[in-house]
Amino acid sequence: MNFLYLLIIVFVVGLFLYWQFIIAEGAYFGARLVALLYDWTAERYNSLKEFEDKFEDEAIGEPLANRLYQQPTATVLDVATGTGRVPLILFRLSSYQGKVIGLDRASKMLAIARRDTAAYHNRITFIQADAMALPFVSNCLPMVTCLEALEFLPHPEKGLHELVRVLAASSPKTPDHGWLMTSNRIGWEARLMPGKTWRREQLVAILNRLPLRYIDILPWETIYDMLFCQKTITTYLAVLKCNDVWNTNDTK
Ligand SMILES: C[S@@+](CC[C@H](N)C(=O)[O-])C[C@H]1O[C@@H](n2cnc3c(N)ncnc32)[C@H](O)[C@@H]1O
Repeated sequence: MNFLYLLIIVFVVGLFLYWQFIIAEGAYFGARLVALLYDWTAERYNSLKEFEDKFEDEAIGEPLANRLYQQPTATVLDVATGTGRVPLILFRLSSYQGKVIGLDRASKMLAIARRDTAAYHNRITFIQADAMALPFVSNCLPMVTCLEALEFLPHPEKGLHELVRVLAASSPKTPDHGWLMTSNRIGWEARLMPGKTWRREQLVAILNRLPLRYIDILPWETIYDMLFCQKTITTYLAVLKCNDVWNTNDTK
């Protein structure tokens, strides 16, 4: 009987550890543990993910290229860049000639990213920092990306706000600025991460409270939706104020 109890306890503890460390990747224990777990697996990350350039370029590269077409030298901030997946996709775009900032908390993930993007070292800057407190002033970056990472942040909704904060809004003078590309975890695993993932309608409600338009949530991978939206200046007053700053005459 004692042996049976022991077996049940081991099983339950095993399940709990699998849930917290494999599915949730330490997300409920804080950003430091998440980064540590990524550091431990950094060398194996790319082979575990089995990225294929062709599919990456189609699913991620093409929509990015469309949004960068009119601003081929725009700086892109990739938050939670990991091993440099998004920077590498951007550098494969023949139409894009801009610079990329790759930010991540895990130093060993950044080391792999630095190694794999060495051929583009003059177009990439890596920063070790936390996604919850981005080291940038507000409204400064024309495009921000953050793939497969929001659910691992201490507070995903605040993390989303932080991405939007640093985005430069589209304006009459910069109509192509303000694009955000990110992802939302879906599927059965998402249900095991309460407070970290959103149902599609919940995500739309959150996004609608932010100064965003053209909200597009697309099925992407079996465990992720992809999201595109554009930051814009919403109120008439704000538009007037900014037109003054930009010194345009067309609304006067
Ligand atoms: C699943 S990986 C995604 C990496 C990359 N975006 C991709 O799609 O391959 C999640 C990344 O988020 C990073 N990360 C998690 N929490 C973070 C935080 N609070 N601040 C910055 N990076 C964080 C991890 O270190 C890891 O590199």
